[in-house]
Amino acid sequence: MNYPIDISIKPEVTPFFDPETNTISYVVKDPSSPACAIVDSVMDIDYAAGRISYKSADRIVEYIRSNGLQVDWLIETHAHADHLSAAPYIQQQLGGKLGIGEHIVTVQETFGKIFNEGTDFKRDGSQFDRLFKDGDTYSIGKMTAFVIHTPGHTPACTTHVIGDSAFTGDTLFMPDGGTARADFPGGDARTLYRSVRKLLETLPPETRLFLCHDYGPDGREIRWETTVREERMHNIHVRDGVSEDSFVKMREARDKTLSMPRLIVPSLQVNTRAGHLPEPDESGKTFLKVPINTL
Ligand SMILES: [Fe+2]
Repeated sequence: MNYPIDISIKPEVTPFFDPETNTISYVVKDPSSPACAIVDSVMDIDYAAGRISYKSADRIVEYIRSNGLQVDWLIETHAHADHLSAAPYIQQQLGGKLGIGEHIVTVQETFGKIFNEGTDFKRDGSQFDRLFKDGDTYSIGKMTAFVIHTPGHTPACTTHVIGDSAFTGDTLFMPDGGTARADFPGGDARTLYRSVRKLLETLPPETRLFLCHDYGPDGREIRWETTVREERMHNIHVRDGVSEDSFVKMREARDKTLSMPRLIVPSLQVNTRAGHLPEPDESGKTFLKVPINTL
């Protein structure tokens, strides 16, 4: 695939860190116009109380409004398992088109079965405005963004490259954090290795990488920005010289030790619906399911 790389374009990137889920959302602005994209927004949930709220999303809405920005796109790098997306809430207030990787249909199929969803749960990605294929391009003001399909953590993972900046979702963590797990339904460690190496060998070394999560390993401060060069030199899981087989062995062994993310059950029911809650039942109330002994 010949990707339209142009590192002379330098978008203005503003991070929003959510300490509840260690998620970083981004506003990515065209330096030559008010146009921007929002990457991986967060809807707040008090899971124990079954209550959702929008403090995190409102910070972004307020930022966009007070800076007079125009939202061209709301991007989901993948169907997240650790937080709920606020994309529909933000879209309702600010507009923009909502996009995710085309393989969301695979994720919808998988979790449609796990949650025994009825026929009203569409598995064709139609909850989104656009399903991106590998190599697809789209515009944010005068900037051209493009998509690299980077499966492994999930089948629908994508990296969005906008000028000199790439938004990797959970395909990569900071060099001292390594990589995300690859053991969710549809995940695969070998596929993840190949995606990461494709990314690191395709993008120029000075490309800025913006990550979706950081957990501050060994007590260091939270960080979310690195470069392709740094990852190739120092990433503890996938730096240059680490073989595919040794990565797969490490990743699979490590994944066996991890418990499920606290919010996986609500996250996947909401995020496979593009951030919408399930339809209310006949009582008019909205419910989420908990599958027993399934995940
Ligand atoms: Fe994820």
